[in-house]
Amino acid sequence: MSIALEHINYVYSPGTAYEKQALKDVCLEIPQGQFVGIIGHTGSGKSTLIQHLNGLTRATSGRILYEGKDIYEEGFDMRWLRSQVGLVFQYPEHQLFEVDVLSDVCFGPKNQGLSQEECEERAKEALELGGFPEKYYRQSPFELSGGQKRRVAIAGVLAMRPKVLVLDEPTAGLDPKGRDEILDQVERLHKETGMTVILVSHSMEDVARYVERIIVMNRGEKMLDGTPREVFRHYKELEKVGLAAPQVTYVMHDLKERGFDLSPDATTIEEAADEIMRSLS
Ligand SMILES: Nc1ncnc2c1ncn2[C@@H]1O[C@H](COP(=O)(O)OP(=O)(O)OP(=O)(O)O)[C@@H](O)[C@H]1O
Ligand SMILES: [Mg+2]
Repeated sequence: MSIALEHINYVYSPGTAYEKQALKDVCLEIPQGQFVGIIGHTGSGKSTLIQHLNGLTRATSGRILYEGKDIYEEGFDMRWLRSQVGLVFQYPEHQLFEVDVLSDVCFGPKNQGLSQEECEERAKEALELGGFPEKYYRQSPFELSGGQKRRVAIAGVLAMRPKVLVLDEPTAGLDPKGRDEILDQVERLHKETGMTVILVSHSMEDVARYVERIIVMNRGEKMLDGTPREVFRHYKELEKVGLAAPQVTYVMHDLKERGFDLSPDATTIEEAADEIMRSLS
């Protein structure tokens, strides 16, 4: 039960003046249930990469296996794959258009050909997972705050009951409160449902707090892949490609250089505080 990418290459507009190789020999495997962050500078290939996961974009070369099945093999059911791997695009709230929240969340399941009753049941379940009480069901999505709108859009994908949820920059353009709302919701979802979550972001800080694994993309290549601790140990290389480790990593390395006897590997403020307290006592 996993998604595996084997030597994936992707070239936009091949054979034209606009030819651009966006993915270069990417190999990775994501087991079911993992919470993964994909990080990279703008243009590093993050969006291109995740659009391969549900077959929306077809690799120029290489293989993708979903639960062991080659998705490019003849007869593979792409519709089924799209119901398994739910993709939430950047600014998904731009795609809200129904008269009320419940109808909007029903849209995906309706497209899957389910009955009205089944659609509503799934929509309610998805809204509940998203922390929306019933009083919101009949409200217009346009009356909600930015963070709430986005959570409705995410619920729209959840209503299709995917096994894998892929979110492309879900916090882009939100204020800190909206950002925490989204990330806390996603974390809760992951804990409660055990679904695989793949979160694209360019904020290390955001991702470090939540995910168990970080994949760093650079110019179409997979540059680093490991736990947040493992990845942030390479903070000097990350800087060279325009990324930074969380601020707390710098503080810890500074303290260590100034002679504090501590491990500089903390990736969150809480871990750093514990480590500093430990070294002082
Ligand atoms: N439709 C397209 N046609 C041609 N080139 C494209 C197209 N879409 C993306 N690219 C190029 O492919 C590369 C990877 O783009 P991609 O959108 O995957 O990066 P990204 O990491 O998601 O960036 P961002 O952080 O800005 O969202 C970039 O160089 C980009 O300019
Ligand atoms: Mg992108």
